[in-house]
Order: sequence, then C-alpha cells, then structure tokens
Amino acid sequence: MSKLWGGRFTKPTDQLVEEYTASIGFDQRLAEDDLRGSIAHVKMLGACGILPLEDVEKIVAGLQLLQQKLAEGQLTFDVAHEDVHMNMEKHLLDLIGPVGGKLHTGRSRNDQVALDMHLYLRRQVKEIIRLLAVLQDACLSMAKSHIDVIIPGYTHLQRAQPVLFSHHMMAYFWMFGRDVERLQDLVKRIDILPLGAGALAGTTFPIDRTRVAKELGFARIYENSMDAVSDRDFILEFLANAAILMMHMSRMCEELVMWCSTEFGFVELDDAYCTGSSIMPQKKNPDVAELVRGKTGRVYGNLLGLLTVLKSLPLAYNKDLQEDKEGMFDTVDTLQGALQLMAGMIGTMTVRKERLQTVVKQDFSNATDLADYLVRKGLPFRQAHEVIGKLVLYCIQNGKFLADLALDEYKQLSPLFDADCMDVINIRTVVDARNVLGGTATPQVLAAIEKAAVLLKQT
Ligand code: ARG
Repeated sequence: MSKLWGGRFTKPTDQLVEEYTASIGFDQRLAEDDLRGSIAHVKMLGACGILPLEDVEKIVAGLQLLQQKLAEGQLTFDVAHEDVHMNMEKHLLDLIGPVGGKLHTGRSRNDQVALDMHLYLRRQVKEIIRLLAVLQDACLSMAKSHIDVIIPGYTHLQRAQPVLFSHHMMAYFWMFGRDVERLQDLVKRIDILPLGAGALAGTTFPIDRTRVAKELGFARIYENSMDAVSDRDFILEFLANAAILMMHMSRMCEELVMWCSTEFGFVELDDAYCTGSSIMPQKKNPDVAELVRGKTGRVYGNLLGLLTVLKSLPLAYNKDLQEDKEGMFDTVDTLQGALQLMAGMIGTMTVRKERLQTVVKQDFSNATDLADYLVRKGLPFRQAHEVIGKLVLYCIQNGKFLADLALDEYKQLSPLFDADCMDVINIRTVVDARNVLGGTATPQVLAAIEKAAVLLKQT
C-alpha cells in the first residue's frame, strides 16, 4: 500500500519493519484527541488566510464526520498507515478527496503527537482526580459512621497505642489529598500547547498559536519549538505521581489484607469484593486488595521504563518517543480501575466492632499513659518509663494486663500510684487523652472530619 510519505522511496517497506514501527495498535486511543486537534489546527489555517475558507469548511466537515464514525465505532485502522495520525489523514482523503491533503499544512506529526498526548492526559488526569475524590469520600464516610470504634495502633507492627478507627481512615484521606494536590499541580504542566512547533524548528507559514491554544483551552504555549516536540516530562511526572498514588493504595490494601485475616479479624470485606478458592470451600480471599497491591509493580515499571527511554535522548524528536504511550495508557487504566474498586471495597466493608472491643483490651498499649501519670505526679519521664517497663514485665510474667493488677501490685513498683491510676488506663480515656491538633481524641477527629468534608467539596 502506498505511503503518505512514499515520494522519496523506490521500494515498499519490509513487512516486519512496517509491523515493528507501527503504533496504531495502541495509539488509536488518541483518535478522539487527534481529530479535535486537527479541527482546531485547520480552523486556524483558515483564519490566518493560509488555506481558503472553502477548503477549511470541507476539511472540518470531513473531520466531524470522522468524529461521528469514531463515536459509533465505525472507523477501522490499518497497520500499513503506521499510526493514528496517518490513519486519520488517510480516512480524510478517502472521504473528501485530495483537499484533505491540505490539513497537514504547517504541521508535523511531531507536534501533532505531542498535542494529542497533552489533550489525552489532561482529560484522564481530571478523571483520576475525580475518582480520587470518590475514594476520599469513602474513607470519610467510614470515618464518620464509625467514630465510636477503637482499634489498636501499631508501630513496627507491634501494638503501640490505641486509636480511633476513624483516625486511621482519615490518615488515608489526607494521604490521598496530597495525591490530588500533586495531580492538580501536574495539570499546569500538561496544560501547554506544543502545536506550532512543526517538526522541530517552527513553520514557514504565518500560523497563530495563540488562537489554537484558546480553541483547545490551553493555558500556555511552549516557548521553544524543540522543547515542545521533545518534552515528555508531563508524562513522566504523571507516572511518578501515579507511582506514589499506587504506593498509597498498596499500603491501605496491605492493611485490609491483614485486617480481614482470622488473626486480626478487624474488618470483613463485602462478598462482592472477594473471591473463593477452587479447592478450599471455606476460603474468602481479598483478591482485589491483593491485586491493587500487586499492580503497584507495573506502575513503578512504567515510570522506570519511560525514565530510561528518555535518558540521553538527543533533541529533538526521535522514534524512541513512541515508547511513551503504552506505559502511560496502562497506568491510566491501572489507576482508574484501582481507584474505583478501592472506593467500593472501603465503602462496603464491615468493621467488626464487637470483636474490636475485646481486641483493644488485650495488650499493653495503655502503658504510655501510665508513665505519663507518674510524670504528672512529679517523676521524671525517663524514670517513669523504667517503672512502667518493670510493671509490664511483671504482668507478662504473671499472665496479666495492666488493668488486671491490684493497687497493691502497682504500689510495689512505685509509691506514687493511687487509686486514680486505674482511670488513665481505660482504653477510651487513653484515646481521648490525645487531645492535640491532629491527635486521635474524639473531638480532634470530629473536627478533622468536618474540615475534610469542606475540603472535599472544593476538589
Ligand atoms: N507514532 C509517532 C509517535 O508516537 C508519531 C510521530 C512520528 N514522527 C516521526 N517523525 N516519525 O511518536
């Protein structure tokens, strides 16, 4: 089949070369954005008097017909036309004849593909921000509806101090909030128009880039044509932000996997979000949480992949840059899938309140409060730490918890203990005693929930 660039060639392309260099298999995902960009470009060519308006009208009508066909799933793509840009141009030529060949005036595939990537990613990042807000809302709702539930808090995965379940949920809310901020900031660097850079040096036609930027809603225009066609930082930054977001979700998933085990038993995931075993009838596996955790790997891989593609790449366009796409598409899909499933999984899980009421009493996570008690009685903290350490050891040796000891046993270790020491080790008291900004005390968490709800509405 003859190529749109065939003039200089005397032989057809080798079949393997054609397949190897083609990107149509994956870049057809840019079709919608490619048509949008072409319409803006050709309208500008008309407005600047570069093309006669009657030609522009024909081309725009042809492109709009292609938009319609695309939406109806009627456009087919051919590997012989290499990529989405040339497939579209071929379709246009078939539709409106040789006048379609004027569309590419003052444009190169190099600034065209860059434009498509900017348009595509801007749309997708906005959708990802929206999905993140839905996930944040699921965390917030769980926090609101479980404000009375206490769970063990861990450091080193050892019981440390009890916290409100809501406080734990809100930790993820704020974490995802930073992901939103990062993506919003990224939009600033996606929101730049590369079109008009030509192949690399600009164009000999008197184009109006400002007009195209306005038409496509870009806040800025690339200042340098070579930078415009070579820059993939915005994709790299997206992949980096995606990697951090996946890492956050993987941490949450890891906790869910632990929490729904028999050993922890803090929550039960909804049946709709679990799967069974082909051999063990009793199994209910947290596959979704595990897969989100696992898919973090491919997103990290996509980031490293593109970093490596870009390393040492000379200016300006090189075919290597075609390798920017699959990792980006895969990351968009992986993120959007994970975000939707996470929101559903969190929103439908059952917190095992009754079990947790027992669980939180079976440890020494109130020991810090007892040390603080001695500090308030005048003992230096370091000595108080030592006394309570001995008390814990005594408990372990005698199979007891702090609340099981008689006042006499306390007094044996320090005369500073009075009957009121029992009050400070009550788990609810322990939680509510941490009444500092950002702490786990109920009023603090309620205030955080309120603040978060206001913020979420603004996303
Ligand atoms: N399919 C190409 C890509 O994705 C489009 C740009 C091709 N430009 C070129 N000079 N071969 O990068």
